[in-house]
Amino acid sequence: MIKLGVNIDHVATVRQARRTVEPDPVAAAVLCELAGAHGITAHLREDRRHMQDRDLEILRRTVRTRLNLEMAVADEIVSFAERIRPDSVCLVPEKREEITTEGGLNVVGGEKAIRKCVERLRRAGIVVSIFVDPVEEQIRASGQCGADFIELHTGRYADAKSARERLSEMEKLASMGEFAHGMGLRVNAGHGLTYGNVRPVLRIPHLEELNIGHSIISRAILVGMERAVRDMLELLRLGPEDL
Ligand code: PXP
Repeated sequence: MIKLGVNIDHVATVRQARRTVEPDPVAAAVLCELAGAHGITAHLREDRRHMQDRDLEILRRTVRTRLNLEMAVADEIVSFAERIRPDSVCLVPEKREEITTEGGLNVVGGEKAIRKCVERLRRAGIVVSIFVDPVEEQIRASGQCGADFIELHTGRYADAKSARERLSEMEKLASMGEFAHGMGLRVNAGHGLTYGNVRPVLRIPHLEELNIGHSIISRAILVGMERAVRDMLELLRLGPEDL
């Protein structure tokens, strides 16, 4: 079965709306794990708009599955990762004005800094993934930077306005899954996935794990975290569905 990593950033977003102590993403992570999630993902942004250092420090000690830290290629955050040692990191682009991560990391052209960052993280025993658009050059460059995984950006598939566009985005994801595997890279995917659009994505060849945040946390607000996670796991268990 394809694994589910739950991105719990939005729990911290609600807390930061009042700069208070609730809801606590650490409690959310426990509930996700009790419901069967295979991993917990959190993005420590340079602007600390949702997750705080304290959250990652406690999650590192409490997460019993796997802790995946999303982060920018930024010296301060690399040092933080070296200190707390998440099981894995996913390198993402970060812009102050964005609402969420808007696309894959531009690895082509940034190889020197990215390779240095990957080396530091791998030396600390951390598995490294790079969030990329389903584009051959970006995947090739990710491999050349020494990444273990790529995480295919599914945002354009999720945002497709027509059945034809959706199919074309799905085909790109599938062929880039194959291409990455051929380069010796392991394959994850995520962004914009929902209960309604997740099953076709399960067809991506060599896919190991999906990272899903917004849709699960949105449902959790209404029906509770455990039920929201179990509902998503059930879809993954059902397997691929045709578009
Ligand atoms: N993967 C990456 C690299 C992300 O940056 C995000 C959003 O933080 C996700 C997956 C999850 O996206 P969503 O919240 O749309 O499910």
